[in-house]
This record gives sequence, structure tokens and C-alpha cells, in this order.
Amino acid sequence: MCGIVGVLGKHEVAPIMVEALRRLEYRGYDSAGIATIDERLQLHRRRAVGKLVNLSDLLVHEPLSGRAGIGHTRWATHGAPSVSNAHPHQCGPVAVVHNGIIENFRSLREDLAAQGTVFETETDTETIVALTRSFLDQGLAPRDAAEQAIARLEGAFALCLLFENEPDLMIAARKGSPLAIGHGEGEVFVGSDAIALAPLTDQITYLEEGDRAVLTRDSVEIYDADGRRANRQVRTIQIDAAHIDKAGHKHFMAKEIAEQPTVIGEALSHYVHDAGIDLPQTLDFAALDRIVMVACGTAFYACLTAKYWFEQLAGLPVEVDIASEFRYREPPIGPNTLAVFVSQSGETADTLAALRYCAEKAQIAAVTNVETSSIARESDVNLPIHAGAEIGVASTKAFTCQLTVLVLMALKAAHARGRIDDATLAARLAELRNLPGRLNLALGQAPQIAAAARAVAEAEDVLFLGRGQMYPLAMEGALKLKEISYIHAEGYASGELKHGPIALIDQTVPVIVMAPHDHLFDKTVSNMQEVMARGGQVLLITDSEGAKTASDGTWRTLVMPDCPALFEPILYALPAQLLAYHAAIAKGTDVDQPRNLAKSVTVE
Ligand code: AGP
Repeated sequence: MCGIVGVLGKHEVAPIMVEALRRLEYRGYDSAGIATIDERLQLHRRRAVGKLVNLSDLLVHEPLSGRAGIGHTRWATHGAPSVSNAHPHQCGPVAVVHNGIIENFRSLREDLAAQGTVFETETDTETIVALTRSFLDQGLAPRDAAEQAIARLEGAFALCLLFENEPDLMIAARKGSPLAIGHGEGEVFVGSDAIALAPLTDQITYLEEGDRAVLTRDSVEIYDADGRRANRQVRTIQIDAAHIDKAGHKHFMAKEIAEQPTVIGEALSHYVHDAGIDLPQTLDFAALDRIVMVACGTAFYACLTAKYWFEQLAGLPVEVDIASEFRYREPPIGPNTLAVFVSQSGETADTLAALRYCAEKAQIAAVTNVETSSIARESDVNLPIHAGAEIGVASTKAFTCQLTVLVLMALKAAHARGRIDDATLAARLAELRNLPGRLNLALGQAPQIAAAARAVAEAEDVLFLGRGQMYPLAMEGALKLKEISYIHAEGYASGELKHGPIALIDQTVPVIVMAPHDHLFDKTVSNMQEVMARGGQVLLITDSEGAKTASDGTWRTLVMPDCPALFEPILYALPAQLLAYHAAIAKGTDVDQPRNLAKSVTVE
């Protein structure tokens, strides 16, 4: 979602901010802009719709000077993507960049309009600067005016304010959306995340909920939600350039798909030792009655897969919910419940709200990729997935690393509850250690998958089918395909086909069947036959045994390496990702930053 940068620097800040905004592009955006304070202490802005290159071009023709500035990539919420709606917004001597939604903006706007403010945009953000200006007009100093204005804002936001005639002052605030302060030598930075600030500094302070920061080049004062001076930790962050570089690949998504054998090996090395699984001791699976799992999008499908594992391996009932539904459903949370929140970014607004609903009612475990994220920090137990920075909007390596951590949790639970003995656990872990090798073999199938993807790319609608633990993967495969290739795709449980979706089948609708030769294989093959009997084109993704017995009559068959059944959802994620990737290439879409999507969804 929207990305924020702010710089009180020693040099010209416009190029620095454009570079920082480039590192925030992965979050998703549809316009961008910067504002600086020039030598005459005046505020000036440049804003452009579309990609950052449009802003860079504008700056070539209409440069901005100054050593203090704020910048923004906007993902439209209130008001279309247009130059006038793009940030920074300015009202008189104050400018702001903002991520989030000001929920009470209508009433604030009415009050301010009644006092004579003329609004130029349709955005909620403009009320922030209008309100701040109204306090400046009452004679308050900039930091006091900002404080008064921020106190009146409702909703979720991260923001950064800059004032005309104040080239050594920025005000930053966080309520609901993440914000980081970067410390330099006689310089200070603000960023939506540490990735934005990576080349500028590795000394980062994360603002906490309700924090407000008064920043000058030589001082950082942070105040908590009650207005008390707060002492927040300065952390040394290790984000090297390699993490945010394509490493020779055409897209981040391609790099991240290819990295999976390595990062899954990484994740395993953090949790698997000798014949056991090291998880925090406070996770007492033997004492649990049930698990509640909550997430959004791809992370939700990881949870749905884990439900099969926890229930079958550990005999633990699992309820899985989409965070945006869970948070308003007021579900009863009984004692002896573990609530698990899965999120790559650790900042998804709905997942965070669902977590807060469960706090105090259940033990909270987070499975995240960002150890400093809100979800990780607000949990009782954090289980990092160790995938490394994921830049492509379509989640790939984070999904398979989430699955890896979740299957380890399920195995640990099964062992703790006496459902599997030491020898069985050791055998499963030995198989898991071989998984990266199998993933490499699956990646070796990329040319065949790419050929199939080019054929799939000609379709307007695609169905994915799976049964048992492959059912969530069918939905994940469909999500991946639609989000980056814009082809309409749906994932169904194979057995549901007859209950409606079969009406869609004709020769124009490819049906992608994810079916390793497991105990449910014959049933899935029957569903596949029903498709083929109606002229449907089946793309079967299976293993060698499955291909031997069931590829007759299929449109195409892709053969994956053999794999122990338990870990097949992790392995079969790769062909699903590669299909989506190559279909998107064939369609010529923007793979890493697909239209309308944001990487970190910090509004509900
Ligand atoms: C994945 O490809 C999607 N872009 C999206 O569904 C994502 O998984 C979802 O927004 C949840 O994000 P999170 O894991 O950061 O919470």
C-alpha cells in the first residue's frame, strides 16, 4: 500500500527520495509525488500519475531543490489516481504524506469547510493538512498544531508532515500503519519500512501504536499515545542490497520462485535440530483443545492447508477464517485455544485487528516474514518463516515457507500429543530435509510448465481442481493466476465440481487438476473424466505414477518429482506459481506490480 519517505538531509533530497520511493514500489501504487523546502524556505511539490518514471521525468523538466523533503507512492482509496489526489497534499504552509484512512474525514471536512477552508481534492488526507493549518492560523507553533491535528484523527494512519519556513523539522505519527525512523549522522529519515531506508542507514527505530515523533537533523523525540516521552529501541537492521535486487532475473517473482529450495532449507535449519523440532516451549500443544487460524489471501490458503495437517497428524480441531470476516464475527474463543495469525508482511490491517480481538482470550502465535512487524510484536509467540524480503506482489516463497513452518508445528503437535512416536517424527524430518532437492527438480520442469502456461494464457476462464490437502492449493493456484495475468480463475474442491461449476465446462475453459498419486487420486481422476466427457481440456499436474495411470485423454500432463504425500502441497505450489508467472509473461502484464494490488494491505 502507500509508501512514505521523509528526509532531513545534508544534500539535495529529491534524488534520494525518488530512490527511496523506488524501493517502496513493491508495495503497490498508482501515483507518486514529493515535496521539498527550497533555499527560500518555500514548499514546492511535484506529483505524477502512474509509475515512478513519470515523476522522475517531471523532475528532469521541473526540478526540486532543497535538503528537506517528503515523498509518497499512493494506492488510491478515497479519490481516483490523479495528480490532484496524489500526495504530498498541501494546505498553506504545511504538507503531508499519509498511508491509511482517516475515518472521520467527512465530519472534519464539514467543520473546516464551514470555517472557510476550500478543499482541492477528494481525499481524506487533505483534511490532515487543512486541520493542521487551522491550528497554525490560531497561532500555534508547527509541532503543537500537528499534535492538536493528529489528536483529532480517527482511523488507521502513518503520516509525515513538513512545514514551510521550517527546514529542520518533520513530524511523524503512527496509528495502525507502520512507520520507521532512520538515524543518520546529522540526518534523519522516515520510511514506511526499513527497505525504503536501506542504503541510507541501518539504524532504525520502529514507532509503536499511537507514537508521534518530532524530528530534527540532530534530535529524535518520540511521544507515546498518552503524550509521554517514550524511549524506543534503535535497532541495527540487516537488509543488504541482495535482498532487494533481482539477481539477474527478469522479475522479483522469478527470483523468489527460484529461491524456494534455498529459503525453505533456511527455514528448516532454524527449527529442525537432530531428530527434533525446536519451537518455543510456551507452545504447549498437548494442552490445547483447538486451534483458530486467521489470515488473508495466500496466507489464508496456507492456513487451510495446515488445517489438514493439524487435524490428521495431531487430532487437533482447527478453524480457519478470513481475517476481514473473523474480526467482525465476534467468534467465541474458548480456553485452551491457540490463535495463529499468518502474514507475510505482518502488517495486514484485518489480520492485525483479528489478532487484537483474540489478545487476552487465547495464546497468540504469529507466523510472519518480518520479525519487527506489528503482528510479530503483538504475539505471545512469533515463528519467523525466514523467507527473506519478498518484493513481488504475488506471494510465492513466503507461501511455501509459511507451509514449511506450519507443517513443523503440526508435526510437533502430533508428537506432543502422542500421535506419532520418535521414530516417525525422525522419519518425517528426514523427508523434509530432502524437500529442497525435490523443489529443485520441480523447478527443472520450468520449460514444460512455461509451454503449458502459454496455452493457458489464451483462455479467458480457468478452473483449478484439487482434493484433500491439494484443495487449498487449487485456490492458491487460481489466486496467483488471476492476480498477475488477469485471467479469471477459480479453485474448487474436485468433489464440488458436479454441484455447479461443471456448467462452465467447454473446450475453451482449461481445467488444471493438481493431483499427485495419493489415496484420493482415483476419486480426482473420476472428476477429471467428467470434465473430459464434456469436452473440457484437462491440464493434469501429477507425479510419475499419476501420469502413468491417468494421462490418457488429458490436454497436457506435467510430471512433478515424487514426494512424500505430507509435503506435496509445498512441492505443487511451484508449478502453480510458474504457470501464473509464464501466463503473465505471455499476456505482457506487469508481473511484480500487477494493477490495483498492494503488497502490504494496511487498510481494511
Ligand atoms: C498474495 O499473492 C497476495 N498478493 C495477497 O493475497 C496476500 O497474501 C495477502 O494480502 C496477505 O498478505 P500478508 O501475508 O502480508 O498478510
